[in-house]
Amino acid sequence: MDKHSFYEQLNAQAFSLIEGESDLIANMANISALLFNQMDDVNWAGFYLYKEEQLVLGPFQGQPACIRIPMGKGVCGTAAQTRITQRIDDVHVFEGHIACDAASNSEIVIPVVKNDKLIGVLDIDSPVFARFDEIDEKGLSDVVANLVTRIL
Ligand code: SME
Repeated sequence: MDKHSFYEQLNAQAFSLIEGESDLIANMANISALLFNQMDDVNWAGFYLYKEEQLVLGPFQGQPACIRIPMGKGVCGTAAQTRITQRIDDVHVFEGHIACDAASNSEIVIPVVKNDKLIGVLDIDSPVFARFDEIDEKGLSDVVANLVTRIL
């Protein structure tokens, strides 16, 4: 299956999982599980939530991860502070990268923002260098946009 069709299907699945539910944690949990199980070459998929001016670990799938990330630190903290998606081909050359799972080599982090308010970030890690391209970024941004519509 080509990547465009993959993300079309993934977004349809994401939508059907969350359309009837507005609980953020429940929806993040199901989306983490969906991404982790459907995407190839992914060793961690999940969310950090913005709380008290830092990121705190939220629903995820994969190895246990660092719990709190200051704003501006690592890939997640950078995405949260700048509110710009970070697509990192080689995390080892990203200054300040926080290595939660030694298996991770590339990473994408997408800010979750509702009405100009930072909710958290979606973080996906891969053992494959440069695992995430523009099509992944678009498809995953659609998943986040989908989730944001369920936040009241
Ligand atoms: N690598 C991330 C930290 C979170 S873990 O990958 C789950 C970072 O540098 O922000």
